[in-house]
Amino acid sequence: MNVAIIGCGGMGALHAQMAANCGHKIVLCADSVRKAAAALAEKFGAKVSADPLSAVAAKGVDLVAIATPTPTHLPLIEAAAQAGKDIFCEKPFCLNTADCKKAIAAAEKAKVKLFVGHVVRYFHEFEAMRAKAQSGEIGAAGWLKISRGGIFPGAPGSWFRDYAQSGGVTLDCMIHDLDWVRYAFGEPERIFCQTLMRTEPVQLDYSQVTMRMKNGLIATVIGTWAQPSGFRVKAEICCSGGMIQYDSADAPLAVQPRTVAAGPNMIVPMSPVEKSPYQMEWEEFTTWLEGTGTPRVTARDAMAAVAMAEAALKSAKTGQPVAL
Ligand SMILES: NC(=O)c1ccc[n+]([C@@H]2O[C@H](COP(=O)([O-])OP(=O)(O)OC[C@H]3O[C@@H](n4cnc5c(N)ncnc54)[C@H](O)[C@@H]3O)[C@@H](O)[C@H]2O)c1
Repeated sequence: MNVAIIGCGGMGALHAQMAANCGHKIVLCADSVRKAAAALAEKFGAKVSADPLSAVAAKGVDLVAIATPTPTHLPLIEAAAQAGKDIFCEKPFCLNTADCKKAIAAAEKAKVKLFVGHVVRYFHEFEAMRAKAQSGEIGAAGWLKISRGGIFPGAPGSWFRDYAQSGGVTLDCMIHDLDWVRYAFGEPERIFCQTLMRTEPVQLDYSQVTMRMKNGLIATVIGTWAQPSGFRVKAEICCSGGMIQYDSADAPLAVQPRTVAAGPNMIVPMSPVEKSPYQMEWEEFTTWLEGTGTPRVTARDAMAAVAMAEAALKSAKTGQPVAL
């Protein structure tokens, strides 16, 4: 299929490569910054556009991959759907559930496929944890704790640093784990969240969510954009017959000097196993486009994850738990 990459920053470049690996052709690269579009287009011999809203409707494009700042997802999805294009959109689906509903309605009305890249569902370690927990081999899960943290993404002035645009670590980053907990253990019942959201000169964001799931499980999810350097994910699932544990960096001692982001890009977690989970999500999306498979994540799942992050941010603001 002919693909237009919309947003040619860190994720746009990654998705262009993943799509090309699946046999798709990158025909157009669009970014509000022409230089960014041109740099990526050159790599794939694609055309360049500095007008993303018209690029999503361009002739000769079958599929658009949206990797732009989160507030732009809805208008781009609506324009792409109206033009009859299938859509790959980065997470978070949209800034809030009201926008997610509009995006789903636009895709359904136009009968186009809309996939949202909840890539943690494709991480082998997370799939292995889900399979083990669901198998019941080590009894029933009672409590789980996941933490995911990195340095604050983006250079000063970037959209990541504007909480109104990115939603901070709670919406932008923890949404991965909120989605995964729901994927593995079912619907949440109640969410309580506390955050530390500092702005410049030393911008830090540290957030802790505690959820009771409908099946009784308690889940603690911690997200930080306050790491001194690097990126780390840890998970622990306490079951009646034992514990499942995962740590992306099992070094016995780590000394990490504080680093300042040098560019606009966020650190993208990579799996140490052979095939990239970003590649796996594109392969699964491709089977859906071809009519030979269905993806493990739907747009409604992506909306449910936004609803969880939205409830968490509401709880952090009011100091009260939020029922879902
Ligand atoms: N799945 C993951 O692991 C992961 C990791 C990082 C970011 N993301 C998500 O991917 C999306 C993009 O993040 P990123 O890290 O690539 O950001 P980025 O800042 O590196 O790139 C965004 C690009 O979009 C361009 N842009 C800004 N407004 C635009 C508009 N209206 N139309 C077209 N282009 C526009 C910018 O010039 C920039 O080149 C966000 O939704 C983010 O939350 C996902």
